[in-house]
Amino acid sequence: MKRALGPNDRLYPMPCPLVVSGTMAHADALACAWIAVGGATPPTIVMALRKSRRTLELIRQTGEFTVNIPRASDAAVVDYFGLVSGHNHDKFAESGWTLEPAAVVSAPLVAECPYNLECRVLSEVDNGSHVLVIGQIVESHAEESVLDENGNVDVELLDPLIYINGSREYRRLGEKVADAFTAGTSVKRA
Ligand SMILES: Cc1cc2nc3c(=O)[nH]c(=O)nc-3n(C[C@H](O)[C@H](O)[C@H](O)COP(=O)(O)O)c2cc1C
Repeated sequence: MKRALGPNDRLYPMPCPLVVSGTMAHADALACAWIAVGGATPPTIVMALRKSRRTLELIRQTGEFTVNIPRASDAAVVDYFGLVSGHNHDKFAESGWTLEPAAVVSAPLVAECPYNLECRVLSEVDNGSHVLVIGQIVESHAEESVLDENGNVDVELLDPLIYINGSREYRRLGEKVADAFTAGTSVKRA
């Protein structure tokens, strides 16, 4: 038996990166769970930002932003970035988290986040309560400590923060269950 729950905005699970815009001298960041990959050629990010966000104002000024994946152990700091606004708080000064220059864009990276994407805005779509910002990923970075011997991100070492909408809780990933693009061959008929 399934119960109809009505229209809602919940997907399970969601990532919860910090999206940064501005410059090294003046940056803001917010926690952003409504974010996903939007394409491969070019690689793109799509995120939904409420129109009141200070981070959105800075993105519109510079046309650039970064997406920074936090560790699960840093849930409290990420939550802080999602609780207060750059309209009336200097979140980096208050949290003690630090910025480092990106390679290509003016928006800085969050030093404490081990995986980072540099993005340049391609377009904006007005979507009612939110604006969809579509950005091209122009560079990416990972701390050496989260890379495997082949230079790929090891998700267990990354230990990314996960957000659960509805119950409003933070979690971390569980164990591996199968190999993608491979496990399905056992179900395929011909
Ligand atoms: C777990 C979590 C996820 C969030 N996801 C989003 C989101 O996807 N889009 C958005 O506009 N705000 C989101 N928020 C709210 C913003 O992070 C929050 O309003 C923040 O204070 C905005 O900061 P700013 O005004 O400095 O940009 C989220 C907050 C939390 C705690």
